[in-house]
Amino acid sequence: TRVDKDGHKHFMAKEIAEQPVAVDKALRAFLDDQDVITLPEGLDFSKIERLSLVACGTAYYACMVAKYWFETIARLPVEVDVASEFRYREPPVSPGTLALFVSQSGETADTLAALRYMQGKADVIAGLVNVPESSIARESDVVLPIHAGPEISVASTKAFTCQLTVLLLLALKAAQTRGLPLPAGMPDDLRALPGLIHQSLASEVQIASAARDLATARDIIFLGRGQLYPLALEGALKLKELSYIHAEGYASGELKHGPIALIDDTVPVIVMAPKDALFEKTISNMQEVMARGGRVVLVTDPDGAREASEGTAEVITLPRAPVTLAPILYAIPAQQIAYFTAIAKGTDVDQPRNLAKSVTVE
Ligand code: G6P
Repeated sequence: TRVDKDGHKHFMAKEIAEQPVAVDKALRAFLDDQDVITLPEGLDFSKIERLSLVACGTAYYACMVAKYWFETIARLPVEVDVASEFRYREPPVSPGTLALFVSQSGETADTLAALRYMQGKADVIAGLVNVPESSIARESDVVLPIHAGPEISVASTKAFTCQLTVLLLLALKAAQTRGLPLPAGMPDDLRALPGLIHQSLASEVQIASAARDLATARDIIFLGRGQLYPLALEGALKLKELSYIHAEGYASGELKHGPIALIDDTVPVIVMAPKDALFEKTISNMQEVMARGGRVVLVTDPDGAREASEGTAEVITLPRAPVTLAPILYAIPAQQIAYFTAIAKGTDVDQPRNLAKSVTVE
């Protein structure tokens, strides 16, 4: 089937806009109207004692977020690896391991090779993919389709938020199977997710204006803590891919161990900080940046904005949302910052230089 831009300037803009619908579809595939989470046969968390998550690029950052969820919600130990490292490390595999491979295309060569390494070693091999006919799907014991629909733009957007949605459902199901209480409001609160994503998309206007300033920078740093740390990495990856500006994501707490040396008034710092249990800590890192003349763009929620806007160059305010859902919502500004900075720089949004949608060679 031919896919067109549906009136959008770029596939990326279309795919960003599609996220409320795509995530809704991903949710409904695993969560029914009675709040029951149903997984495909063959994936039974009562037999799983640990997880090994393997992926590349943006899918790898989805795995990093999932590690927080599986560990805090389901109390399962998780290892996360980039496939190109995992496959050559000859990692020993303990009994009770679920090996989960996350890939939009299902064809990434390193991820597929890592999967083959785990065949005969892991108890269960699951492929979380957007393309159900793909090699990774075919060679997995269990296939978890994310239902994002065709993703054309090289930079992954809706596949990322759908991957996160399905990974969160898996973590919730694992917790239920292990007899653990779910975070307050879950899984019912998940139904609010498409609407919250829709509301988050409205920051576009503010982000487009901030992006004109970001486009003049040579280096940009993204900071996040806890489950927002992988979003800082994803924000930096998207920005460098699309705008060719050097960008780095850092765990807020690591600021003092290096990147703070780079801070002056030429280096914008994007801080992702919902008003959660770690908010004060991240904000204190943000203040260290501002004390050194750094221009801060704070991405937060209404409560965070009320408390910590002073001295920032710009505040992007997302809707108030359950803490667990924050990584999914913060993906939206991460994508929009990269998109509008690329527009301001005039780079090729859908086909950035040197990059491929699916990396089927090593
Ligand atoms: C390439 C794409 C990225 C993607 C990565 C992994 O680098 O440009 O957008 O995240 O491959 O791809 P996969 O299909 O395995 O998710």
